[in-house]
Amino acid sequence: MQVVLSVKDMQDLASSYKRRGQKIGFVPTMGYLHEGHLSLIRIAKKMSDVCVVSIFVNPLQFGPNEDFNEYPRDLMRDKELLEKEGVDILFLPDEREMYPIDFCTFVEVEGLSDVLCGKYRPGHFRGVTTVVAKLFNIVKPDIAVFGEKDAQQAIIIKRMVRDLNFDVKIVTAPTVREEDGLAMSSRNTYLTPEQRKEAPVLYKSLLLARKLIEQGERDPEKIKKEMEKMIKENANCEIQYIEIVRKEDLKPLDRIEGEVLIALAAKFGRARLIDNITVKVNQEKGR
Ligand code: PAJ
Repeated sequence: MQVVLSVKDMQDLASSYKRRGQKIGFVPTMGYLHEGHLSLIRIAKKMSDVCVVSIFVNPLQFGPNEDFNEYPRDLMRDKELLEKEGVDILFLPDEREMYPIDFCTFVEVEGLSDVLCGKYRPGHFRGVTTVVAKLFNIVKPDIAVFGEKDAQQAIIIKRMVRDLNFDVKIVTAPTVREEDGLAMSSRNTYLTPEQRKEAPVLYKSLLLARKLIEQGERDPEKIKKEMEKMIKENANCEIQYIEIVRKEDLKPLDRIEGEVLIALAAKFGRARLIDNITVKVNQEKGR
């Protein structure tokens, strides 16, 4: 695996692959890799000739009181995992090169970025879209893979790609979970043993929502109440939001219909965990 540190080197390398007609598959990450990340890499590898992974803990997407400094990092281990997966290039950009002192250009996807997580993390998605736009210009991928674990992020990036005509295909991949259902996340390392035992209730509450919908419930408020009750009874956490929205544009729904995203965020001590599922409900006649 080739490790590339500079933007120019990465761009030159990407151009040379393109000249040779080789397809570049890309997985952007912030490192501290787990099976979730590796599942995206396997998809990128299958769909391309050259697989590029970036590791960059992007300061722009962390709020002033968030965990940028504590964000877990283990480059040695990450490199080993990437080697094992057969990744061709690891791009490890330098913070000062990515953000020179007079950096002042940002990419913002309006509307989609200030709901759900955006409400609780102002500026977060602007940081994500800005860095992903930069990475696309540096890595020049033909395809890029993102996880459904961060459903809002994937939806926002797809919109950015469409609106700004990035010549890249965005592929999404299912959430990889621990055996007890907890969505894998680099931030799970913040959990105490007690919190780790309680955290799977988040996914259980999403499964409860799915079951209620399958049984015919169509009122989002009733479903959200049941989810909240289940979480409160089983975990000592602070629920930030439980939302049921239209997947396409993240708009709230009066009634469950079509493709809906059920998403939540909760703080277990210093660990802010998110999870979501998508449920499809066929249009019903006569209602
Ligand atoms: P990070 O949290 O490292 O995640 C990198 C990619 O892995 C994202 O597309 C994310 O959705 C995916 N991912 C994380 N956990 C997953 C899981 N359990 N199952 C499947 N996929 C999972 O997301 C970011 O980094 C950053 O915002 C980034 C896009 C790199 C921009 O800085």
